[in-house]
Amino acid sequence: MTGGAGFIGSNFLNLLVPRHPEHRFINVDKLTYAANLANLEPIGDRPNYALERVDIVDQAAVQDLFERTRPNMVIHFAAESHVDRSIHAPGAFIETNITGTFRLLEAFRSLPKGQGTLFHHVSTDEVYGSLGPTGAFTEETPYDPSSPYSASKASSDHLVRAYHRTYGLPTKITNCSNNYGPYQFPEKLIPLMILNAIEGKPLPVYGKGENVRDWLYVDDHCEAIWTVIQKGKIGETYNIGGRSEKKNLDVVHAICALVASETGVPAKKLLDLIHYVQDRPGHDLRYAIDPTKVMHECGFSPKESFETGLRKTVRFYLEHDRWVRDVRSGDYQAWIDKNYTKRT
Ligand code: NAD
Ligand code: TYD
Repeated sequence: MTGGAGFIGSNFLNLLVPRHPEHRFINVDKLTYAANLANLEPIGDRPNYALERVDIVDQAAVQDLFERTRPNMVIHFAAESHVDRSIHAPGAFIETNITGTFRLLEAFRSLPKGQGTLFHHVSTDEVYGSLGPTGAFTEETPYDPSSPYSASKASSDHLVRAYHRTYGLPTKITNCSNNYGPYQFPEKLIPLMILNAIEGKPLPVYGKGENVRDWLYVDDHCEAIWTVIQKGKIGETYNIGGRSEKKNLDVVHAICALVASETGVPAKKLLDLIHYVQDRPGHDLRYAIDPTKVMHECGFSPKESFETGLRKTVRFYLEHDRWVRDVRSGDYQAWIDKNYTKRT
């Protein structure tokens, strides 16, 4: 699998490596700013887990890796994943998300195919663009990406489908809604707001806070991917979500209430930290997933509600202050200064 030291990839490995000693998991990761090997401490010494530090854009390195390890399955998480960074500097998104996916597809198709050969591509609902006030994305919704991030992910989805149709490569794609949970880098909405609330810093809401995202707890996404790998059909796409739409402002209010109840700080004091800042350019108004296909064909349904998942997440950030300190070293402060100075 690729991108296993990032947010979703590390949660996936922590769930599946102990559960499946009969499978060997090789984590192929460049270890960018978004990676953190501390996320993988729970499985670090498992005999069925290994790390290979490889940039998926590097053709020779990918080819060499595939010849050495001869995987029968690729589960492809690695990506540049943050919309705001893609607005400031789109180049890395084109390289990793498009060229990197192409390199993996090329190297994988050169290997002999057998039973169980599969390229599983992990993608996002953002490829479908923005919804108005009603409706939800189905697998038939036309692609209409708005940001360099979502355009690069859309492009990678098209490549994966083309390799199935043209070369007969066994592929599956999952397009999931917004994730949250432990080990998410605090540049994304939920961990950023939790940490700022804990520390009494301003809570920067873009625009009026009316944009809607459809939230899924990260373990539910990981279980859905594994379920599609087992039960989904080759060549198909599955949308993944938990029917949990929320306005951004409501998410921030829920975080303030939970941080207040966990720390004893009055909720009013936290709500007063909300601070409206300049909107994101090309900001999609609303995302919502229709998960009927994955529920009916694969039997997937999420275990966590937004309320239970968010409480677990708040507790994770409260209880892991060393992890938080470590991820905020390096270029984290430079990013915060760059993204929020102009917006305030
Ligand atoms: P993340 O940014 O937390 O982690 C990405 C990982 O990929 C990091 O470990 C990083 O080091 C690695 N990586 C980046 N460039 C690489 C390269 N060139 N070579 C090798 N490794 C590289 O991302 P995430 O939030 O865990 O997302 C994982 C996947 O899930 C992505 O493909 C993303 O598009 C998709 N997705 C994310 C969400 C979400 O809400 N986070 C929702 C739907 C889909
Ligand atoms: P984000 O977590 O970046 O995910 P995505 O853009 O991929 O959906 O943002 C989620 C929503 O929260 C999005 O509508 C932008 C908004 N947002 C803020 O209002 N303030 C912030 O500081 C951040 C990071 C995001």
